[in-house]
Amino acid sequence: MAERDRVYLNGELVPYDEAKISVEDRGFNFADGIYEVVRIAGGRPFRIDAHLDRFQGGARALEIELPLTRDAVREAIIEVASANRVDEGTVYVQLTRGAAPRYHAFPRGVTPTLVMLARPSAGPDPEALERGVALVTAPDLRWGYCEIKTIGLLPNVIAYQHARSENCHEALLVRDGVVTEGAHSSAFCVQDGVVYTHPIDNILPSITRRYLIESLRADGVEVREEGVRLEDFRGADEIFLTGTTTEIMGVVSIDGTPVGSGEVGPVTRRGLELYRRDLEATRAGGAE
Ligand code: PDD
Repeated sequence: MAERDRVYLNGELVPYDEAKISVEDRGFNFADGIYEVVRIAGGRPFRIDAHLDRFQGGARALEIELPLTRDAVREAIIEVASANRVDEGTVYVQLTRGAAPRYHAFPRGVTPTLVMLARPSAGPDPEALERGVALVTAPDLRWGYCEIKTIGLLPNVIAYQHARSENCHEALLVRDGVVTEGAHSSAFCVQDGVVYTHPIDNILPSITRRYLIESLRADGVEVREEGVRLEDFRGADEIFLTGTTTEIMGVVSIDGTPVGSGEVGPVTRRGLELYRRDLEATRAGGAE
């Protein structure tokens, strides 16, 4: 981060180097918190209501009281992007239970820690979007509350590190023989014109996943939220990933073996076209 960067910390925009939290913050000690990554296009947050819904839902599930109203969170996201002149990029939002002497049970009367960081980004590598990417498979070793977007991401980090060490774009997580999602993205396959993705059953209720399911259905494509076994996934006509930082990314190989035609397929391309169209509408000042 450059010196001029400002971080949102508990209601204030402070210089990056001055943004400090306690060594007893429960996010640090217990990964006791949640986060969001919001895409910014033309200075505006994309799909912000869906992000706010998930953020509020996660805080409720963990019994962390949001220190701001929903509207104030929305305003703060826009403000931190603007203060850092991030027209195109992301805002990372993290809420933890706050600082308290280390003790497992929820402490009472503690003020939560809310942090927001804006980062410029032009989105995924255009060449990767055009040519498609390679995946490795990894066991889904996460816990039973994957519906909550917690900062407890070590299993995802280990799986993704494995993917990077194999020069791959993402790790495809597999639980009981069924593909669940990526380490930081959702996974889809297409067979005979029908799109399949794992139901929201111990996976992340991704904003981009939901957006794409609705957009493809509105476009006349059949989408089924059903688990697909890895062997069927590998044999699908098309495979793609989705996510805030992934957009709609075609997959051309898994574990070194080509999948589908070896090129980004037509349903994937259509998905990306729809996504770009709606991102552009946000950029132009339309629906957020
Ligand atoms: N990750 N699945 C997992 C496990 C994720 O961590 C993410 C997002 C997604 C896609 O969700 P969404 O469409 O809401 O971004 C799916 C974020 C970007 C991250 O951890 O950086």
